[in-house]
Amino acid sequence: MPKKLYIKTHGCQMNEYDSEKMAKILKHEENFELTSSEHEADLIILNTCSIREKAQERVFHQIGRWRKIKDKKPNLKIAIGGCVASQEGDKIMKRAPEVDIVFGPQSLHRLPELYKKEQKVKKAQIDISFPKLEKFSHMPAPDKGEPSSFVSIMEGCNKYCSFCVVPMTRGHEVSRTVEDIVEEVKILSEKGTAEIHYLGQNVNNFKGTYKGEISSLAQLIELTGKIDGIERIRFTTSHPHEFKDDLVEAYANVPELVSHVHLPIQSGSDRILKLMRRRYDTDKYLKLIEKIKKIRPDMSFSSDFIVGFPGETEEDFQATMDIVEKVKFDASYSFIYSQRPNTPASQMEDDVSEEVKKNRLDLLQDRLNQIAFGYSRKLVGTTQNCLVMGLSKKDPGQLQARTICDRVVNFQADGYDLIGQLVNIQINEALPNSLRGVLNN
Ligand code: SAH
Ligand code: F3S
Repeated sequence: MPKKLYIKTHGCQMNEYDSEKMAKILKHEENFELTSSEHEADLIILNTCSIREKAQERVFHQIGRWRKIKDKKPNLKIAIGGCVASQEGDKIMKRAPEVDIVFGPQSLHRLPELYKKEQKVKKAQIDISFPKLEKFSHMPAPDKGEPSSFVSIMEGCNKYCSFCVVPMTRGHEVSRTVEDIVEEVKILSEKGTAEIHYLGQNVNNFKGTYKGEISSLAQLIELTGKIDGIERIRFTTSHPHEFKDDLVEAYANVPELVSHVHLPIQSGSDRILKLMRRRYDTDKYLKLIEKIKKIRPDMSFSSDFIVGFPGETEEDFQATMDIVEKVKFDASYSFIYSQRPNTPASQMEDDVSEEVKKNRLDLLQDRLNQIAFGYSRKLVGTTQNCLVMGLSKKDPGQLQARTICDRVVNFQADGYDLIGQLVNIQINEALPNSLRGVLNN
């Protein structure tokens, strides 16, 4: 009988991706099957994120809740992975004796080994090392292709933006080889994937080799566009500083590359951007957008924003609101600045009050939502090429698709044959978080 695995994931897309890989490797090597009930589990994994929240306390609270399950079921194993584990691994081992395994984002492929060892020696195991790229070579080949599949092309980040813990928790940038990535995409495409979403913290600095020479994201995208069955290509996250000309050119040369990009600006104030160590100013950012729009006038841009960075004045915040008006960003993410341990910004006084931070976040989010909803309303009456992802979450009698700008569209269909295909949908209603339409093939 398969053993049961329960995984709880905090945080980003990258963590979702890593959790999927954990499930896969444990299924492959230890015959674990996912369960949605923590009470049924033989192994519980918490994949943690330390980018923003008061992450550490959240982890100890969660462990406390699982302790009660373990009291009744002593054979239950608890494993803590992800960025909090990477930064606080030793502390977790000391403070939470019920934890059996601690592993970092770069050592998740060693989970089966750590699990076996813990059972054999009956002693908690920890591995939070950064073995270069070993993680990728240990992954079993994809066994199914979702209509849209994430493929990680690099790990870590060297940018050291002053507010960010990622370089500390995920280590330095290492890229996979182009051959390795293309091979994975070919397998996914044969199994039904139509859209590839390349993932990494800083994908435009991708430096994997191709035929022994250093390649680029642009070259990887061009090669991907040629793979049979791949109809759409996306990538996140790209840093405005390294969005090189060959990548801009890819919008002219690769029709599969979608006319939508997530390009985090963080702030509209040049003074704050400098303190954030982002390495671009608003002028450079706006010029980049112009360059891309020259090639693709219909291009849409989304962003991440941080409000309340140390020293952010009303004037700085207004500059952020102004850039939102200039670019008219599509659906974006915005966050309240939170001081992260060991980051350069943690040396600066976190001097914007919680109240001011919250007010600024509300103002920014209201405006971002208004603009995004405006784009949704503009789509009403048009026909959009959409990729059918699966069943609608709200109404299983309907299917769910995604537009090029990544909006969810629910529509009526007979059966499930269209899942994984690109279809034309006439949009006839815009709701705050989705669209409704009818097939128009
Ligand atoms: N690699 C990506 C970002 C990774 S973190 C990039 O280049 O932008 C995702 C987002 O979390 C960031 O874009 C930023 O907006 C937000 N973030 C990161 N650290 C933060 C902090 N200390 N406080 C608030 N938001 C933060
Ligand atoms: Fe973080 Fe900046 Fe890298 S936001 S992930 S240090 S590009």
